[in-house]
Amino acid sequence: MSNQREQWGSKLGFILAASGSAVGIGNIWKYPHMAGQNGGAAFTMVYLVCILVVGLSIVIAEFVIGRKTQLSPVGAFETLAPKSSWKWLGFLGVASAFVILSFYGVVGGWILKYIFISLSGGFHSLANNPDAAEKLFGGFVSLTWSPVFFQIIFMVICIYVIVNGVKEGIERWSKIMMPLIIVLLIVLAIRGLTLPNGVEGLKFLFQPKFEDLTASSVVLALGHSFFTLSLGMGTMITYGSYLDRKQNLLSSALWVIALDTAIAMLAGIAIFTTVFALNADPAGGAGLIFFILPSVFPQLVGGAIWGTLFFILLFMAALTSAISILEVVTAYFIDQKGWSRKKATIQFGAVITIVGVFCSLSMGGGINLTEFFGISFFDFMDYLSSKYMLPIGGLLTALFILKKWGVNNFMDELKKGMDKSKLSKELITVLFGIAAAVVGFIIISEILEVVFGITLIQ
Ligand code: PHE
Repeated sequence: MSNQREQWGSKLGFILAASGSAVGIGNIWKYPHMAGQNGGAAFTMVYLVCILVVGLSIVIAEFVIGRKTQLSPVGAFETLAPKSSWKWLGFLGVASAFVILSFYGVVGGWILKYIFISLSGGFHSLANNPDAAEKLFGGFVSLTWSPVFFQIIFMVICIYVIVNGVKEGIERWSKIMMPLIIVLLIVLAIRGLTLPNGVEGLKFLFQPKFEDLTASSVVLALGHSFFTLSLGMGTMITYGSYLDRKQNLLSSALWVIALDTAIAMLAGIAIFTTVFALNADPAGGAGLIFFILPSVFPQLVGGAIWGTLFFILLFMAALTSAISILEVVTAYFIDQKGWSRKKATIQFGAVITIVGVFCSLSMGGGINLTEFFGISFFDFMDYLSSKYMLPIGGLLTALFILKKWGVNNFMDELKKGMDKSKLSKELITVLFGIAAAVVGFIIISEILEVVFGITLIQ
C-alpha cells in the first residue's frame, strides 16, 4: 500500500500544513490568557524553555517515525517494533484524536457563530459591557440546538477538506489559510499597538512578574507545549508519513516551532494591546475571547470589521488544527484497514461529531453529565487530553526511541535530507532523556495529586 501513498506537493506545503496543525485555538485563545494569569513574561520564558527542550525533541521524533515508516501511528509503531505492545501507543493517539476533536469541534462551532454575530453588528450592544457579552455567550452555549448546528457545520467543513486528500485537501487549504492567519494577526497587532495606551498591553504580556509564577504554572506551560505543538498523539507522525527523504526534518521542525511561537506571541500582542487601550479586564481568563473582546471591538472605529476579522482568523486556525486531528483517524483506517479515504473520513468524522454533541449539550443544553465526572463532559475531555493523554503519548514516544527503536536507528533516518549534521548521539540521548524525565515527573505528580491527594508541586 505504501508505494501509492499520498505525498506532500512541496516542502513549503508540508511546513504550512504542520504549522497549521500547531497553530490553533491553543495559540490564540489558551496562550494569551494563560500568560496573562501566570506572570506574563515569566510564564512565556518557561513556556519557551519547554518548547525548545521538550517540544522540539518530540516534534522531530514524530516526523522521523512517520517518514521512516510511511505509516500513521499504529502501523508505524507496529513496523518499528513488531509483535510488541508499542502499537498501543499508536492506538492511544487515535483515541486522543477522538477525545480532542469532540470538544475542539464544539469550540469551532462557537467561533463560526461569532463570525455571524459580528458580521450582523451583534456586538454593538455589548460595547464596554463585558457582563452583557458574558450573558450572550453563556446563553448561546447552553442552548440545545444552535451550538450543535454550528458544530456540525464546522465538522462538515473539516470532513470536506480531508476527503480531498493530503495534497488537494490539507496542503491546499493550509497554503491558503496560514498566510491569511499571519497577515490578519499582524494587522490586528498593529491596530492594537497604535491605539492610545495599547503599549500597556505589551508591558503586561512581556514584563516578567515572577511572583505570579507558581510551580503549577510550570506544569501548565509544559502541558500547553504539547497541546500547542499537536504532540503526543501522532499528528506529526501522520504528517511526517507523507514526506519523502529529501526533506530536512530538523529545519522543518524548527520552522513549525518558530511559526507556532510567533503566532502565539502575535495573538497575545493583538489581544492585550486592545484590551488595555479600552480599559477592559486583562485577567478575563478563558472568557477573554468570547466575553472581553466582543465588548471591546465595538468601541473601535470599524469595530464590526475588526471583530469579524478576528473571528475569521480564529476559525481558520481552528480548522487547520481540526483537520490534522481527523487525519490521524482517517489515516489509521486507510493504512491498517484498507478503507477508502472518503469512507474513513465520513464515517469517523460523523462518530466524532456525535461525541461532540454530548460535549456541547453538557454546557447546559440538556445533558447533565456533571454527576459522573465532577466537571462538565466538555471540560472532562479537555482535561483528559491535555493533562494526561498528550503528555503520556509524548513521554512514551521519547522512551520508545531511547529504549526500543534505538538512538542510532533514529539518527540514521533523521540524517537523511540533511547536508551536514553535527548532531551527536549523546546530544540526542540527553535531549530525549530530559524530555522523558521532565514529562514523567509531571505526570506522576499529577496522578499522585489526583488519586492520593499528595502534592509534590505547589
Ligand atoms: N495544536 C492545536 C492548537 O494549538 C491543537 C491540537 C492538539 C491539534 C493536538 C492537533 C493535535 O490549538
